[in-house]
Amino acid sequence: MKIVTCVAPINMAVIKYCKCPWLIFYILTRCEIFFHCFLGGKRDDDLILPINDSLSASLNTHVMCAKTTIMSSPNLKENKFWLNGKEQTFNSPRLNSCLKAIKDRCDQSLPHLNWSISICSENNFPTAAGLASSAAGYACLVYALAKLYGIEGEISDIARQGSGSACRSIYGGWVQWHKGSSPLGLDSIAQQLFPANHWPEMRILILVVNDTRKKYSSTIAMKRSVDTSTLIHHRANRVVPERIQTLSRAIAEKDFATFAEIAMKDSNQLHAICLDTFPPCVYMNDVSHAIVSVVHAFNEYKNDIKAAYTCDAGSNVCIYLLESEVQDLVSWINYVFPKSADITQQEYYRGLPLEQRNMDKAVFEGLNITPFDVDLLKYIIHTNVGDGPEVLKDEQAHLLDDNGCPK
Ligand code: DP6
Repeated sequence: MKIVTCVAPINMAVIKYCKCPWLIFYILTRCEIFFHCFLGGKRDDDLILPINDSLSASLNTHVMCAKTTIMSSPNLKENKFWLNGKEQTFNSPRLNSCLKAIKDRCDQSLPHLNWSISICSENNFPTAAGLASSAAGYACLVYALAKLYGIEGEISDIARQGSGSACRSIYGGWVQWHKGSSPLGLDSIAQQLFPANHWPEMRILILVVNDTRKKYSSTIAMKRSVDTSTLIHHRANRVVPERIQTLSRAIAEKDFATFAEIAMKDSNQLHAICLDTFPPCVYMNDVSHAIVSVVHAFNEYKNDIKAAYTCDAGSNVCIYLLESEVQDLVSWINYVFPKSADITQQEYYRGLPLEQRNMDKAVFEGLNITPFDVDLLKYIIHTNVGDGPEVLKDEQAHLLDDNGCPK
């Protein structure tokens, strides 16, 4: 019997990824694919290939992470998979692509290669909150499978086949996903640009917006964008290559103002593409837009760019800022988005400790900033940049018992 338990981080993109529908690649590259098939490779129906590079930070796994235990045993009758306490079908194409790619890459003489497996995975944050759970989940799954089957070396291309953004969660710190040019995605891999401790003052606030509306599947939305938006192609060809270079330099030099301006512009462009998609897919809501306005007002008040918002495929807003600004920005958020007294501080402020300080009301009144209704935010997560996936050595950490069932 073999068992391994790992944790993996979520990541927050500063330059966002947009996906290439398989069909376009297929038409452009059918000859190469034909040769690949002829030589014994198998065409995958969804390799999850991006049309532009993207860049993100992996976030502290002590605050938010996916945790996965995988057991392989000759006593297991069939493959089983539990996610957040509920048994799931093992029939998921993405799960099976990852498992197959890992098995293809490992030593074929391993005795446990043909044993069944049990997978149990959970997130230590609400999956439904739209907080990049698939990135952490698939990175953790692929990392744990790689450990189980003794694979060393590159696996981000395999995590990518679970969920595009998962390839960036295979590394800690600041990570670039190179779109690559191989039609089979062999060079569409992630690379760590800087380790987690490169810019130790960087902090991230995630404002979880009280919104139960289900987001559109990013697969369907991205396909629709590639098919109907003209802006998405201009962005991929003209905007992103330069932004990646400027952003990498800004991170290297710890130039916050340049970093922040690109982060905000790139988020705005992603959501502009969502509106340029026909019919449009709208992710941000009025509260998300109000947070964006607060960040701009904060920067104006500070007479410098001190905070940067970025939004993914949902209404939550992530704010990058330096440690020295956290207290001030949180006091702004508390003023503009008050919480009702029945929500406890522990429920509302999660992650790294947050020192509370309330700004003088007169400052906001002078700036003509007025509070919204209570409880438009569900809670605030305070975190920082962290390491990549790791194996948990402690046997107590396993999510499965000796029979391969959830504990
Ligand atoms: C908007 O990685 O969730 O967060 O590849 O279909 O699983 P799939 O999509 P996913 O897309 C996330 C896109 C984004 C931007 C980003 O993280 O780069």
